[in-house]
Amino acid sequence: MTAARDDVLLLGAAAATPLAAGERAAMGEALRFAGLPASDLDDASVRAFAFAGRDGALVGYVGLEIHGDEALVRSIVVEPSRRRQGAGRAIVERLLGEAAALGAVRAYLLTTNARAYFERLGFATVARADAPPAILATRQAVGLCPASAALMVRPTRS
Ligand SMILES: CC(C)(COP(=O)(O)OP(=O)(O)OC[C@H]1O[C@@H](n2cnc3c(N)ncnc32)[C@H](O)[C@@H]1OP(=O)(O)O)[C@@H](O)C(=O)NCCC(=O)NCCS
Repeated sequence: MTAARDDVLLLGAAAATPLAAGERAAMGEALRFAGLPASDLDDASVRAFAFAGRDGALVGYVGLEIHGDEALVRSIVVEPSRRRQGAGRAIVERLLGEAAALGAVRAYLLTTNARAYFERLGFATVARADAPPAILATRQAVGLCPASAALMVRPTRS
């Protein structure tokens, strides 16, 4: 079994580490480095998680907002040296399980550069006019992501 596969298994088995507001500086750096917005990372509505691999080293980060039945998956970034090993998929699947446990039925995300990636994970593009007001009111939807960003959705449970 490869080290990469071991990492994925660990991501599936281990709890992600929640990052309290004030513990997200390194996450913000990683997001900015990847060209993703981070200025709202410390907002009270944003949950943030760090994932480590089997070796204890950081694999990536992800953010989540829960708005009743709806979730917003946001701020996913995998360490450059850990990409293309299944970590992103494992993180998204883990996060969707967390969102479902918190009562969300559907998960939305906004992306400018990774639409094809999220299609492979079961997300489909949806018109903004068809999105719930709570998702359209998030800071990401209102202004941090460009209007050209694709809005995508999938059920939290497949
Ligand atoms: C997008 C990201 C999280 C994927 O993480 P990852 O751990 O490499 O993903 P996985 O290992 O699950 O999947 C890798 C596959 O997705 C593809 N992929 C990665 N990024 C992609 C993108 N932006 N668009 C389309 N496909 C993409 C890879 O080419 C690879 O394909 P392959 O299996 O045919 O080789 C990672 O590339 C990243 O951190 N990018 C910078 C931040 C970012 O753009 N986040 C998304 C913002 S909405």
